[in-house]
Amino acid sequence: MENAIALDRRPADRLGRPLRDLRISVMDRCNFRCPYCMPRERFHEHYAFLRTAQRLSFDEITRLARLFVPMGVHKLRITGGEPLLRANLPDLIADLAAVEGIEDIAMTTNGVLLGKYAYELKAAGLTRVTVSLDSLDPQIFEKLSGGFGHASEVLDGIERARAAGFTRIKVNTVIQRGVNDEGALDLVARFRGSGVTVRFIEYMDVGNRNDWREQMVVPSRELQARIHERWPLHALKPRHAGEVAQRHAFDDGAGEVGFISSVTQPFCGNCSRARLSSDGLLYTCLFAQTGTDLRAPLRAGADDAQITRIIRGIWHDREDRYSEQRMMLREREGAKPKVEMNYIGG
Ligand code: GTP
Ligand code: 5AD
Ligand code: SF4
Ligand code: SF4
Repeated sequence: MENAIALDRRPADRLGRPLRDLRISVMDRCNFRCPYCMPRERFHEHYAFLRTAQRLSFDEITRLARLFVPMGVHKLRITGGEPLLRANLPDLIADLAAVEGIEDIAMTTNGVLLGKYAYELKAAGLTRVTVSLDSLDPQIFEKLSGGFGHASEVLDGIERARAAGFTRIKVNTVIQRGVNDEGALDLVARFRGSGVTVRFIEYMDVGNRNDWREQMVVPSRELQARIHERWPLHALKPRHAGEVAQRHAFDDGAGEVGFISSVTQPFCGNCSRARLSSDGLLYTCLFAQTGTDLRAPLRAGADDAQITRIIRGIWHDREDRYSEQRMMLREREGAKPKVEMNYIGG
């Protein structure tokens, strides 16, 4: 009886935060080599990516998603590396869409393969697509993708997604001072009035190899002022508690832009996201040093109640708030490796 009651309640972590979103990385490989995420020197042809058998199968992922629902998760985000490199991804989307209680399935992609799969993904039940695009300038794009892909392919992917019926498409742009900040207004100009929302992300110290320095961050307030000068903006109310982006609408009605300010205005207080790596480790923060293995119990034959208890225990013990403690933690734990972006999906 005691167990039944414990399994029924929605868990809150040590800071009182509920669990609402599950981000599922399905693939640690990527067809780009963005220097801030998978620098070419490190991720070469001999790099030991996960092997197929190490990755959770679609059945395992779907089972976990089903177990997360009673804990309060109704929203999933599929990430990578590049999720569209995972074979038969639309089949997984269809399996997840059939899970009772899952209301929203979004995907973050670099967009190059989006054109190829957009119709299948839509038909399978994917509800939203977010495309990473850091620059429209061919030279800067080439540098930022590590020499793979072209901005035109990404733009084409966005158009094909729109043609396939996706209506709430977002573009994520990571801004680095002196690298692509000058091009931010071009991105705004390109997507204003198109129905696609551009969101500018402050450059973060994710992982261990992006050589992050605070001077490389362009504070959202600064960028917002630059955009406002050209196209006046007004702030919008958050759509829901814990929304990552601050939304601003153009005064002239041409849609909105968003700012994700995890460096200058951290949002850990509302963070309700859990992250699952493609080999089945559960992480409670984007900047975590360790995760908890769910694949081992899954493959050892644990029943639903046992897996649920493990997940609830992890959430119950959670006290992460890295972005709020960034400078202190960098000083104290600087040498300890954090989880990598291509592995956990941003
Ligand atoms: P929706 O609001 O559902 O559209 O999704 P989202 O904005 O939560 O997801 P998305 O992956 O588009 O988030 C955009 C970027 O914000 C990510 O790529 C990360 O760079 C950053 N981000 C998202 N969640 C977190 C988080 O929990 N912590 C930090 N520090 N950054 C995050
Ligand atoms: N800081 C902020 N965002 C990042 N992303 C990757 N690395 C970083 C970083 N260091 C973004 C990608 C993509 C998403 C998965 O995370 O550009 O939009
Ligand atoms: Fe690939 Fe995204 Fe990492 Fe770039 S940021 S290498 S597109 S996973
Ligand atoms: Fe959540 Fe960690 Fe990001 Fe804070 S730093 S918002 S706790 S993922």
